[in-house]
Amino acid sequence: MSQPPLNQTRADFVAAVDHVIRERKTLKVLRDPGDCADLPFEVAAQLHVAVRECLDVAGWAPFHKPAHKETHQQGELKSVVPWRFYVLEKPALCALLQRLRTQAQAQPDSKWSRAWESKITRVISGTGALVLTTWLPDPSPDGGAPVLTENNQEHIAAASAAVQNLMLAAEARGLQTYWSSGGVLNDAEVFDWLGIPRTQKLAGAVFLAPTDLPADALEGGSWREKRGGPADWSKWIEA
Ligand SMILES: Cc1cc2nc3c(=O)[nH]c(=O)nc-3n(C[C@H](O)[C@H](O)[C@H](O)COP(=O)(O)O)c2cc1C
Repeated sequence: MSQPPLNQTRADFVAAVDHVIRERKTLKVLRDPGDCADLPFEVAAQLHVAVRECLDVAGWAPFHKPAHKETHQQGELKSVVPWRFYVLEKPALCALLQRLRTQAQAQPDSKWSRAWESKITRVISGTGALVLTTWLPDPSPDGGAPVLTENNQEHIAAASAAVQNLMLAAEARGLQTYWSSGGVLNDAEVFDWLGIPRTQKLAGAVFLAPTDLPADALEGGSWREKRGGPADWSKWIEA
């Protein structure tokens, strides 16, 4: 059981934690992909420190099963945890956009041109940093797509807990967050460009943005106010 930090009452501790959970909300910072630009030095430096702290604390998510030994514990990142974080700061994000634009121009009417027209390029342009969080499937017997085995369900659950940790840590540090399925960021070729093994699957593309970044528009999550209340999602089982 965790104790409140020194000088904090249990009630203040609870209030702070609950506040962060409730205040976390989807915010997409949208900007024309052609306007992608480095952050001012100070903003980038502060964000770098904040993201490092968030990754540190996010890694304390629960996990039940270790990642598959041969497939995932032999590479550059050797942890037993069934998730990995890949961080792209603004220069890497703008470079990624440039690469997507080149592909789209070279191949009109392709997955690349469609990706270029999709919202994800605007979010990449608007955000401060991106944390691609993968989950680490057990290999399928036939070498195909991951199967929803009990192990894999638990790997996904653990990676999702790590994503939520990441977003709450970011929220507490005053960052705006957005968990996206990722669109073109799921593409195997994009994984290759970024050095992410194809054996991993995207659990979430987590966009982290300091407030006051230049934006063409801000957008919330469409389901936020439609979730109902505790009586709609919880039931007390009688003896
Ligand atoms: C696994 C997952 C994937 C998501 N993918 C997307 C997405 O691709 N596009 C999007 O607009 N929102 C996406 N969201 C964010 C949801 O739209 C958002 O959480 C929901 O509307 C509730 O709003 P809130 O986050 O402000 O509470 C995703 C959320 C989760 C958990």
